Amino acid sequence: MTTNDNKSNDRPIAIDAYEALAVRYSALAETKAENGYIEHPAIRQQLGDVAKLKIVDAGCGPGILSAYLISQGAEVTAFDVSPKMVELAHLRTQGKAKLHVADMARPLEFLESGHFDLVASSLAIDYVRDWANPLREFHRALKPRGRLVFTVQHPLGAYLWYNPPTAFGVHYVEAKWSGFGGEPVVVPDYYRSFEEIVNPLLQAGFSLVRVTDTKPVGALKEVDASRFEKYSRIPTFMCIEAEKRD
Ligand SMILES: C[S@@+](CC[C@H](N)C(=O)[O-])C[C@H]1O[C@@H](n2cnc3c(N)ncnc32)[C@H](O)[C@@H]1O
Repeated sequence: MTTNDNKSNDRPIAIDAYEALAVRYSALAETKAENGYIEHPAIRQQLGDVAKLKIVDAGCGPGILSAYLISQGAEVTAFDVSPKMVELAHLRTQGKAKLHVADMARPLEFLESGHFDLVASSLAIDYVRDWANPLREFHRALKPRGRLVFTVQHPLGAYLWYNPPTAFGVHYVEAKWSGFGGEPVVVPDYYRSFEEIVNPLLQAGFSLVRVTDTKPVGALKEVDASRFEKYSRIPTFMCIEAEKRD
């Protein structure tokens, strides 16, 4: 495990929240409506066949996606800003992923240039205000025509949830999470409009391949009919596939 050099005072906004949530998140995410029944199936479908691919899992959390990718025959390098999350990812992947504690807003020196087929990132880049840094690093690490597949909060669902001052631009927001049990935790985030998602990608040298407004899988209806109904009407996440253009 390595740690990237954080010389700046810009403390990652979500680190304390995820240090507090790490164990609960790891225990519950796979069975939670928003993760297990919406985000996990959406990103896995978009990723497709990953056998033998060299993949970065950026903001890996407790390693749920990393473990899945390894089970499908991929070679995984993963990182997260929360040391506790990285520890949990190490346990979940049984030492089979190369893991780092790192802030994606900083240079990611441990990612070899032009080495990776795919960068995957689940619900993590939201927590960085300026996407130029992570996108530059992902672009550098990818092979020519390498893919970036990631999920973020959907601007519509996020607008309704956070109620930011306007639907345009990028806004610091906070929400109290009680869905992971125990003491509620205030989780800071950035609300981001659609153009603030797409334009940084194009500026960083990626082409858009596909955008999906995620919907719950049918199995959620049996487990939690009201969430199934709500998330079938209002998109909660967006899954984006982009390709390294130049
Ligand atoms: C909603 S969780 C998603 C975790 C994992 N990708 C998953 O889907 O299970 C968000 C993750 O992003 C990480 N994160 C937040 N800010 C980050 C940053 N600046 N650099 C790297 N990881 C970050 C958090 O520590 C947390 O593990």
